[in-house]
Amino acid sequence: MNLFRKGEDKIKPEELRIEKLSKVHAEILKDFNSDEQDLVDFLIEDAFNQQDRRISATYLWFLRQTNELIAYITLTPDCVKLNNINSELSQKFKDKGINFKSLPALKICRLCVKNKYLKKGLGTLLIQFSINKAFILSLDVGCRFIYLDAKRNSDPKKDALHFYKKMGFEIYKNRNDRETPMYMDILPFIKTLADR
Ligand SMILES: CC(C)(COP(=O)(O)OP(=O)(O)OC[C@H]1O[C@@H](n2cnc3c(N)ncnc32)[C@H](O)[C@@H]1OP(=O)(O)O)[C@@H](O)C(=O)NCCC(=O)NCCS
Repeated sequence: MNLFRKGEDKIKPEELRIEKLSKVHAEILKDFNSDEQDLVDFLIEDAFNQQDRRISATYLWFLRQTNELIAYITLTPDCVKLNNINSELSQKFKDKGINFKSLPALKICRLCVKNKYLKKGLGTLLIQFSINKAFILSLDVGCRFIYLDAKRNSDPKKDALHFYKKMGFEIYKNRNDRETPMYMDILPFIKTLADR
């Protein structure tokens, strides 16, 4: 996995401000756009309500200089079930010494970058943010994986599966044409993060 962000055109972490979604953001959300309209609709219509009911938590990413909302991510606790998986993957987990039926995970429910800001390294930063959250959970209550359903697109440039593979995610199951469940084992990151 290469989380090193190369290139001058990338947005730097210090240019960003992250806020947890709240009622005060209601108007700002309307300026957000993406070709993935369902991700825009979720943000505007459902994200706060779900958060209010403690089903998920949404974090908004703003450009400090302009206060523009340029990305968001929605997270929830989950578990990765290890029964009912193919024998190859099952063996892979056994080789790692994992013999449980399920393991705790942090699920990326939604993740979206505003159209104008695609390919500027924000997706990578959002994944780093999730790894940090999973690491904190791992210390407090245990957490081993990040899990998600990658949105599929027949246009390879818009197929999130390729992005997640680049980030180090692996396929958990081939489900259908629309979504592919993927996971990342955070154990390799834990030592690095713990040493900070
Ligand atoms: C998927 C998404 C979050 C990626 O965000 P991003 O800010 O463009 O990603 P980054 O700039 O950090 O890209 C990191 C690397 O992945 C590559 N990449 C990004 N999207 C890609 C795609 N769809 N297919 C292949 N590679 C992709 C980038 O080119 C970059 O590679 P490089 O380091 O070799 O230059 C963004 O495309 C998005 O919001 N899409 C619409 C919503 C969506 O599909 N969300 C996922 C739902 S599961």
